[in-house]
Amino acid sequence: MARPLALALALLAVSVTVLPLVSSADDYARCEGAVKGWADSAGEGDNAGDKLNLKDLLFFLHIPRTGGRTYFHCFLKKLYTNAQECPRSYDKLRFDPSHPDCTLVVSHDDYSLTSKLPRERTSVVTILRNPVDRVFSTYEFSVEVAARFLVHPNLTSAKTMTSRVLTKSRAVSTLDIWPWKYLVPWMREDLFARRDARGNDSVPSSKKINAYDVEDMVMPLHQYINDPVAHEIIHNGATFQITGLTNNSYFDGAHEVRHCVRKYPDLGRFVLQVAKAGPYAVHRTYRGS
Ligand SMILES: *[C@@H]1O[C@H](CO)[C@@H](O)[C@H](O)[C@H]1NC(C)=O
Ligand SMILES: *[C@@H]1O[C@H](CO)[C@@H](O)[C@H](O)[C@H]1NC(C)=O
Ligand SMILES: *[C@@H]1O[C@H](CO)[C@@H](O)[C@H](O)[C@H]1NC(C)=O
Repeated sequence: MARPLALALALLAVSVTVLPLVSSADDYARCEGAVKGWADSAGEGDNAGDKLNLKDLLFFLHIPRTGGRTYFHCFLKKLYTNAQECPRSYDKLRFDPSHPDCTLVVSHDDYSLTSKLPRERTSVVTILRNPVDRVFSTYEFSVEVAARFLVHPNLTSAKTMTSRVLTKSRAVSTLDIWPWKYLVPWMREDLFARRDARGNDSVPSSKKINAYDVEDMVMPLHQYINDPVAHEIIHNGATFQITGLTNNSYFDGAHEVRHCVRKYPDLGRFVLQVAKAGPYAVHRTYRGS
């Protein structure tokens, strides 16, 4: 992403601290400038004619809960050898571009990862899913993974045992991977708190059949999706991921742009334009939940 933009944003941030009395109109104008500036630079170099030709390096941008694991194991793995697969790069801390010969990158990282890749030799593929299904599925998976920890007597012991096992095995855990590294611990803490509050003998009395609203066991869906954490990383998660604006971005200006869009939702149209025009070969899947 363009360095001048990052610099401009840094300067803006400074001027805001120096002049704390910005009016809300100024604030809107500042945000609009930041979002538009980003959108203009993001559109550059989009050689639209060449989207469907597979280039040397394929980046599979894995949006959570879109069937990406299946796509990877049942399709990509048949096309690429193990040696062609770049080292596991599920999280930016683990990304290692030192494998010059690899030709397949599979990652939950967002589009800004392309700034680390030879752009003119890279194709990007991703899978989109109906957003409502995706949000339901994100909730279900958060509960499923967090509930595995309930075999432990308490939260402290769950945390200690897990980090011990992971250090030993060096396996990549769901807890290392964005966005699960935020969503699972949050849900896990909540599950333990509810179990503690229930006490020992009150086995769920409720005959509730609505699995999304079993309050004595698990954070209900409506509470989950209204929480600021969900707002930050789930609601527009797929759009932010394919535009490189998640809170896991390599692009320094991402936080400014994202916060501006959240503060002034009408500015979201610029992000959507970039998302729609993005240089992707898109396979759409619409699965039921
Ligand atoms: C948590 O469980 C472990 C293992 O049973 C126990 O040693 C520890 O005292 C418990 N901690 C708390 C805070 O209850
Ligand atoms: C939980 O229930 C078991 C069996 O009913 C009982 O032995 C134990 O003391 C109870 N523990 C607590 C913390 O209430
Ligand atoms: C990303 O979002 C999560 C959840 O809101 C938050 O805990 C985390 O600090 C954020 N990370 C960054 C780099 O902003």
